[in-house]
Amino acid sequence: MGSKFSKIGFVLAVAGSAVGLGNAWKFPTLVGQNGGSAFVLLYLVLTLGVAFVIFLAELSIGKLSEKDPVNGYKTLAPTNKKTWSMAGFTMLGAILIVSFYSLVIGWVVKYMYFSATGNLSQTLEESEKQFTNLLLNDFLSQFICFSLIFLIVFYVVSKGVKNGIERLNVWMMPTLFILLILMLFYALSHTNGFSEALQFLFVPDFSKISGTSILEALALAFFSLSLGVGTIITYSASLPDKTNFITSTLNIILINILIGLMMGLIVFTFIFEFGANPNQAGPGLIFISLTTLFAKLGIVGYILGATFFLSLIFAGITSAISMIEPFAFYLINTFKMSRKNALILIGLIVYILGNLCILSTLSITEFKILGMSFFDVLDYISGKIIMPLGGILAAIFVGFVMKKKALEILFEPYMSGVFFKVWYFFLRFIAPLAVIIIVINAFK
Ligand code: PHE
Repeated sequence: MGSKFSKIGFVLAVAGSAVGLGNAWKFPTLVGQNGGSAFVLLYLVLTLGVAFVIFLAELSIGKLSEKDPVNGYKTLAPTNKKTWSMAGFTMLGAILIVSFYSLVIGWVVKYMYFSATGNLSQTLEESEKQFTNLLLNDFLSQFICFSLIFLIVFYVVSKGVKNGIERLNVWMMPTLFILLILMLFYALSHTNGFSEALQFLFVPDFSKISGTSILEALALAFFSLSLGVGTIITYSASLPDKTNFITSTLNIILINILIGLMMGLIVFTFIFEFGANPNQAGPGLIFISLTTLFAKLGIVGYILGATFFLSLIFAGITSAISMIEPFAFYLINTFKMSRKNALILIGLIVYILGNLCILSTLSITEFKILGMSFFDVLDYISGKIIMPLGGILAAIFVGFVMKKKALEILFEPYMSGVFFKVWYFFLRFIAPLAVIIIVINAFK
């Protein structure tokens, strides 16, 4: 990959990848749908017990091979190199994700524009109309906003790991954090809503936990930490030597959780302050309920809305770039392509898929595959099939196939022997089993 990240660059870039629409959009929505605090607790337990464990496995593959996912598996497999290298192709899941993910960031751009120009609707019905109108009828806006995000994302990746990805993350992530703190302070001034939000998120009510919410929480933990699609393997290939990657990983996971919770507090403060329903299907919570509340606050709401959507754009862009880098790195390594040519090829695929997503929900060109819009198909295949598969393969590979000695040498400077044993046990038996349960559920 040429140059490596700096120490702080690595933490910020991986945190930038992890923190995204998953935290800002999926997390509050799922928390709302699954009754609040008990779901939050589940998510935390699964993040630490399963996602963290697989995260370290993917990091080991990247760090020890210093290669892209396909060549990484190939290099580290003691036998059956060709077969194992296939596991690396789960990175193509990230290409599917970035195609619809960039479109969602595009919607956020449009909403930032609505906020900045004072064009949010005052009633829930009108807000809903505004949102469905964007998806059903407004090809031009979606096309322009998607293309804009597409260009920014590919431009950053074209500059490489250090000059593009690191540079962007180093200012975007702290800015995101500051924007969130400011919004949190504003939320704090709404004491009633804020205390209800606190209670909703943090005082557990176990009666609300069901089998499906456990699975939702596990899938979210995966998505949120960018697991299973080669991102962590690829970024770890540029992990600087002698970095205590255990503390780095813990920092990343902490930042990821913290930002999810901050987003949750901000969103639910307003939801409760104005008596809206926290349980909403699909994109309703952010694009419909929250925007209506912003509109009710008048000028302050518009500023708040624009700030909120800007922070989502930042969070989304730093994640989107991390979805492209694995495949680009693979093409560069394997076919000796220039970065530019690799990105032209990937760009073509993403641009076509992204536009198909737009067309798939427009009322005049709507098309469905097996009853789902093309957008939902990409989301389903990547989230419910490829990500869990990529996670299981990484766990099995590192837990059973790779030489234990190499891992011990890698971990020894930063982890006590006991901790290593616990991690290794979780990696071999707990994590793959938990993930298999998600997959089985997806096909039920
Ligand atoms: N973790 C990102 C988010 O929460 C999504 C992501 C998935 C990023 C896969 C990279 C790879 O939004």
